[in-house]
Amino acid sequence: MKILILGAAGQIGRLLTKDLLEQTDYDLVLYARNASKRLKDAKSNRVSVVNGDFTNYDALVTAMSGVDAIYLNDMNSRNGVQTIAKAMKTTGLKRILVASILGIYDEVPGAFGKWNEKMVGKAGIQSHKETVTLFENPDMDYTILRLTWLYNQEGNRNYHLTFKGEPFEGAQLTRQAVSQLIVDILQDKSGKFLKSSLGVAEPNTNWAKPSFY
Ligand SMILES: NC(=O)c1ccc[n+]([C@@H]2O[C@H](COP(=O)([O-])OP(=O)(O)OC[C@H]3O[C@@H](n4cnc5c(N)ncnc54)[C@H](OP(=O)(O)O)[C@@H]3O)[C@@H](O)[C@H]2O)c1
Repeated sequence: MKILILGAAGQIGRLLTKDLLEQTDYDLVLYARNASKRLKDAKSNRVSVVNGDFTNYDALVTAMSGVDAIYLNDMNSRNGVQTIAKAMKTTGLKRILVASILGIYDEVPGAFGKWNEKMVGKAGIQSHKETVTLFENPDMDYTILRLTWLYNQEGNRNYHLTFKGEPFEGAQLTRQAVSQLIVDILQDKSGKFLKSSLGVAEPNTNWAKPSFY
């Protein structure tokens, strides 16, 4: 398998690169702005690097060559997300996992739902609602990750999933757990994560806000 990480110089992108190299035999394509400088430590005969913005159609098409699945680490650039979807159509690549945010289906109940909407803002949530639809459609083999509030903790890889239609549960989540979840989804043979949208949080954190706020 060959995996393309879009936004590979980001925090989760770097954790995921390390986890995939350690836990699988997959080949990786690391895509980032100024990648050859920023990711020069990621040396392995299983890794190749492509420089580019998410709006660089030609670089994306090149990066997608021979790739089986994509992890997209940022959904904030509408233009970028549209260009990625267009490059996938051109190359025929259908499998994508994307990092989005909680609240895009108004699925976060109670005090935490209100706090989250106040913190992210209605416009921010609306923007993710719109970009997610570019992948959450029958033509794509998508897995949408609706991530709750992120922090870092080495060794904490615990995650709890809710599926679309269920109320969201959990106010915080480590980036280490997100990386592990992506490895687990890519290795899953059952197909249960295909065409699915997952609420992702740390177990037993169903609080009114994250512990670090
Ligand atoms: N912080 C939270 O609590 C929270 C909660 C839920 C979801 N999320 C989402 O989770 C995602 C991953 O988190 P993270 O901590 O790994 O984020 P991060 O460190 O900011 O990584 C995102 C990466 O995406 C890259 N990127 C963004 N737009 C791009 C573009 N147009 N072209 C090329 N690269 C682009 C950035 O590139 P540069 O490094 O070049 O800027 C960055 O390296 C983020 O997208 C965030 O929106 C965060």
